[in-house]
Amino acid sequence: MTQTATARDGAAQAANVNPLRAGVASSRITDPCNIIFFGASGDLVKRMLMPAMYNLRLENILPANYGIVGVSRDEFSDTEFRDVMHKSIDEFSRSGAAKDPMWTDFAKCLSYIGGGFDDDRLYTQLRKQLEQNDAHLGTGGNRLFYLSTPPSVFALIIDKLDAAGLGPRDNKVGWTRIIVEKPFGTDLDSARALQAEVSKVFDEKTVYRIDHYLGKEPVQDIMALRFANVIFEPIWNRRYVDCVQITATETVGVEGRGGYYDNSGALRDMIQNHVMNLLALVAMEPPVSSSADSIRDEKFKALSAIRPIPRDRIMQDSARGQYGAGSIAGQPVPGYREEPSVNPTSNTDTYAALKLYIDNWRWADVPFYLRSGKRLAHKNSEIAIRFKGIPHRLFGELGDTIDNNVLVMKIQPEEGVSLRFAAKIPGPKMHIRAVSMDFNYGTGFGVVSAPAYERLIGDAMRGDATLFTRWDAVETAWNIVTPVMEHWWNTPDETFPNYAAGSQGPASSDRMLAADGREWRRI
Ligand code: BG6
Repeated sequence: MTQTATARDGAAQAANVNPLRAGVASSRITDPCNIIFFGASGDLVKRMLMPAMYNLRLENILPANYGIVGVSRDEFSDTEFRDVMHKSIDEFSRSGAAKDPMWTDFAKCLSYIGGGFDDDRLYTQLRKQLEQNDAHLGTGGNRLFYLSTPPSVFALIIDKLDAAGLGPRDNKVGWTRIIVEKPFGTDLDSARALQAEVSKVFDEKTVYRIDHYLGKEPVQDIMALRFANVIFEPIWNRRYVDCVQITATETVGVEGRGGYYDNSGALRDMIQNHVMNLLALVAMEPPVSSSADSIRDEKFKALSAIRPIPRDRIMQDSARGQYGAGSIAGQPVPGYREEPSVNPTSNTDTYAALKLYIDNWRWADVPFYLRSGKRLAHKNSEIAIRFKGIPHRLFGELGDTIDNNVLVMKIQPEEGVSLRFAAKIPGPKMHIRAVSMDFNYGTGFGVVSAPAYERLIGDAMRGDATLFTRWDAVETAWNIVTPVMEHWWNTPDETFPNYAAGSQGPASSDRMLAADGREWRRI
């Protein structure tokens, strides 16, 4: 054991903590500020954002001087809003029900403003509330607006904020930033139109486009695995990699969001944002530093090297599906077209798969297979790097297959890394079998990862944009998926529904890989 490791173990024993975490300072206090949630009576605020704020407070990541202002169309008094948020935290917070004295302390910084997003009076009131918070809570003129509303009102709110003197150029005292929820546009043109509106008021450095996948611990670990180790980088290229498979599947259906989802589909809802971000992290070149823009520069370069699927290849290089009735965990579930608020003859994809190539020296000719879908056999998000086969076989009795090495970065529900390699089965004969070496973050480090929103809100309050998607990456991702999406929307798939709920997905997706002599990993 090295001296450093010994010292670390000693310190860990003294502090009675997991040795892998000894000596690590975990809290990064944010700047004093006001955070303003537009869409405060919506599901996201109740389930995720307010519990995240409360836990940031519990973990002492929020500074003493903060204000939280909820804004939405509903009419609540401050007290009523606090009661609703109390209930949401009780129901959804990872730390359990909100308790005194922490809740009382937290609640006194919560206020609410109700009104239509098109109503100028709402913004006048908001301005007064923020000034009052600056004076009484010591929030220093710093403002973080969070748009957790339907995307149709993003541009309106931004315009009204600016007109009310709440935009960055009118803030002479502190900083002004904005977090924009996904989806950022619904195709390439609408994303560009939205960006044109956003950039009239907010400079790119002040825009935090959220993709909650980037806040997941194992996603952040992709860079650590690649760039804090020397052994992976030399083989992370076309010489050694046979293909990359990126999977993000779910067992849930549309969960009461049929109205939204039926106009979206899996390609828009998951592939354009979450899965593309995973691809960028796997494919990018080593950044020159860990600054937000160095990392985002490399992600953008990787995405911009992706060859958009030519129109005449869309049938072969993509696969779509829609679930029919089936069963999940032994329980019967209805098909997509029977879900509330879904068109009974809907052509929307609840499963999407793409085969993409990255035209650069590192990845030329290596297929990247991406897939995402709802109501599949298991919830599973992972990135699997499948290496090439051995060049010459020495071992193994006839009939033994020698599987390719596979490195799997497990994102959820398991969080870890697994390496598959060949080993000799003990005994007199040279039988070979695939075995795997597994690391699990939870048991390894003895911690449960904090939900992504906690990390991301904290980062935005601190001004760290590393885990937020820059406009150039969003635009490039839309550029790749839009032609496929348009083709799918314009040519209904007569085979829908084409996979049963609880299955591995549509046969057309298996055929896409079979045409290349490959198979998907089991979900
Ligand atoms: C959201 C999608 O962005 O991600 C949802 O809109 C999807 O449809 C969700 O269910 C999946 O997130 P997670 O963290 O559960 O994988």
